[in-house]
Amino acid sequence: MSEIIISGGKRLEGAVHVHGAKNSVLPILAATILSGSVSVIHNCPRLSDVDATVAILEHLGCRVSREGQTVTVDSSTLDRCDIPDHLMREMRSSVIFLGAVLARTGEARLCAPGGCELGPRPIDLHLAALRRLGADIREKGGDLRCRTKGLRGTEISLTIPSVGATENAMLAACGAKGETVIYNAAREPEIVDLQQFLNACGARVRGAGSSAVVVEGGIPLHMAEYTVMADRICAATYLSAAAIAGGEIEVEGVPRSQLVLITDLFSAAGCRIRAEERRIWLESDGRLRSVPPVRTAPYPGFPTDAQPPVMAALTKARGTTVFVETMFENRYRHTQELVRMGADIRVEGRVAVVCGAEKLHGANLEAADLRGGAALVVAALGAEGESRISGLHHIDRGYADLTERLAALGGAIYRN
Ligand code: EPZ
Repeated sequence: MSEIIISGGKRLEGAVHVHGAKNSVLPILAATILSGSVSVIHNCPRLSDVDATVAILEHLGCRVSREGQTVTVDSSTLDRCDIPDHLMREMRSSVIFLGAVLARTGEARLCAPGGCELGPRPIDLHLAALRRLGADIREKGGDLRCRTKGLRGTEISLTIPSVGATENAMLAACGAKGETVIYNAAREPEIVDLQQFLNACGARVRGAGSSAVVVEGGIPLHMAEYTVMADRICAATYLSAAAIAGGEIEVEGVPRSQLVLITDLFSAAGCRIRAEERRIWLESDGRLRSVPPVRTAPYPGFPTDAQPPVMAALTKARGTTVFVETMFENRYRHTQELVRMGADIRVEGRVAVVCGAEKLHGANLEAADLRGGAALVVAALGAEGESRISGLHHIDRGYADLTERLAALGGAIYRN
């Protein structure tokens, strides 16, 4: 079984260019089926979640080719509307295909994605939005059978600003006759990226980034070429690694505005931060101080996906930092592994109290989910001695070339 082996304590120096954002490329790839034409998507990272999405596109009958960081999708040959269980199980966020398949073909069949390592991942808001648009959705024994005689524009109010439900509604609304307004929409930068891709295809979508997204539906879409935004959570992960290991790194490609809460946190923790539009420098002596409570929230709040790596970076900080995870009920699975390295973390439900440890020591560790796995890599870089991390299939979902990039920054890290 492949492992990442890290000898901690090495300073990190140099620049890292951040690859394309997993959470943007997945909905954009799903959106390529709307046009029934060719879409050329640049800055597409080599991730297992992207592989799973491409497998779904090919199952649906699309022709997909990949050259380096570019994926080309020809959805003119789409001839199916079902997503098989094994592909759904591989990636629960495949539910994002629901709106696009329904808009393109008038029907969609898939198995309810169920939960994941983070806990139950309901899709009630997705289904409610699609029903508002005129979808007839029958849930039977975990299967979802969706049909429509024609989607019609409407007003949708999301009770939670769900990223996935916003994206599903946007994609379905593109195929609906008339205007759709999505209220209480998620405001994540990935939603803005999706809007920009859809408009590159000839759609008329506006308001992404605000809590009201407006889609003028029923417009025929055409061929598009688009470059996906950089991954802000990967950027936060590299900054966390340098913060605990010590050193000076430059993270390129992510707009500073998307990372302001992360850079503010590390500045309060004692790091020196400089930022230009798409470049962030972080300098750290490896001895951080604790920061005021970190509470995750929908964008522009503190990103839940950054909580694990940032927590790892603060395990040796002088003082105590309190984390409150409001988005997912099971997002502290990395804490037991960090405690095995000598961290002092107490979890009570959604609250984790991190008391700074004098030092961390290397250990044999197992990743339990994507961002939790990244947290173990961050902690191991700041620990004394060797760590061996297994469960790499979790990390490969969202980080391309993680070990190569950290080794290039001077980390003693490799993958066997
Ligand atoms: C997206 O998941 C991301 N995944 C997640 O990233 C990210 O953590 C999350 O947004 C929050 O930012 C992708 O984009 C592929 P939500 P999503 O719907 O869309 C509840 C990672 O590590 N909810 O915004 O599934 C839900 O339970 C992954 O890259 C409902 O109750 O998240 C959660 O508590 C992990 N009903 C909250 O809303 C619904 O129908 C936010 O979830 C949908 C969601």
